[in-house]
Amino acid sequence: MHNPFSLEGKKILVTGASSGIGAQTAICVSQMGATLIITGRNEENLKKILKQLHGEGHQAIVADLCDDIEPLINSCQLLDGIVNCAGITKHLPIKFIDRKAIDQIFDINYTGPVILINRLFKLKKINPGASIVLLSSLASMFPFKGGTLYSGAKAAIDIFSKTIAIEFSSQKIRANTVNAGMVKTPLLNSAEETISKEAMQTHEKAYPLGFGETTDIANMCVFLLSDASRWITGTNIVMDGGLTAGT
Ligand SMILES: NC(=O)c1ccc[n+]([C@@H]2O[C@H](COP(=O)([O-])OP(=O)(O)OC[C@H]3O[C@@H](n4cnc5c(N)ncnc54)[C@H](OP(=O)(O)O)[C@@H]3O)[C@@H](O)[C@H]2O)c1
Repeated sequence: MHNPFSLEGKKILVTGASSGIGAQTAICVSQMGATLIITGRNEENLKKILKQLHGEGHQAIVADLCDDIEPLINSCQLLDGIVNCAGITKHLPIKFIDRKAIDQIFDINYTGPVILINRLFKLKKINPGASIVLLSSLASMFPFKGGTLYSGAKAAIDIFSKTIAIEFSSQKIRANTVNAGMVKTPLLNSAEETISKEAMQTHEKAYPLGFGETTDIANMCVFLLSDASRWITGTNIVMDGGLTAGT
């Protein structure tokens, strides 16, 4: 029986696959039958994730998305899907912003993925019917104090995704963002460097279903990569455990 949720026979690139959401997404995508190219900067972590992938034929490529990505692009064969999970967060109140901080946060959260996808399109490495999933954030819609750069970069990614959806619809290439609330990953731990543990615990109480797990996001990425979501494109999908549903 045909399973529209299957990823059998699909070639998928996952960035940020050396940690957190990207690592779990790579594992779940491989469990659904896809062949993966995983990328990140930390070679040791990337190798650990490569070993956890199901099936054969996967590749791990070490690359900094803010640097020369041509070796990564050259290693990519025709892709049926991309999940961009690479990203960083930083709390920086407006008074403390400088050009260096703007560059640092926008480089990886916006410019890096835009150039990556632009190069892949230019070299015709994205198959008709492919699905592109970009990890965005609830913060692109609901900014937080100290988060103007992160929220701004993610809002720009939301628009990039919608623009891919309209520019490439004739090839049935789809693009969507996943706008996640708090998910338990190392990125969340780094937020705890500037926000107290107590404040974080109080914040979690506002989530009717608590903070998310990496599998929650990974399963959505699997769905968006699969043919089961063939009519979904240009959307910003909120996943926040009910935080913004109301009180
Ligand atoms: N966790 C949350 O609560 C949350 C909420 C909303 C949205 N998000 C978004 O979800 C995505 C994944 O976050 P996460 O929580 O899984 O974070 P994470 O565990 O810190 O993972 C971030 C990933 O990004 C990669 N990365 C960072 N800078 C890079 C660069 N210059 N070049 C290539 N790769 C780079 C890291 O690779 P290396 O470690 O190998 O350097 C790592 O694999 C991010 O885009 C984040 O903004 C997360």
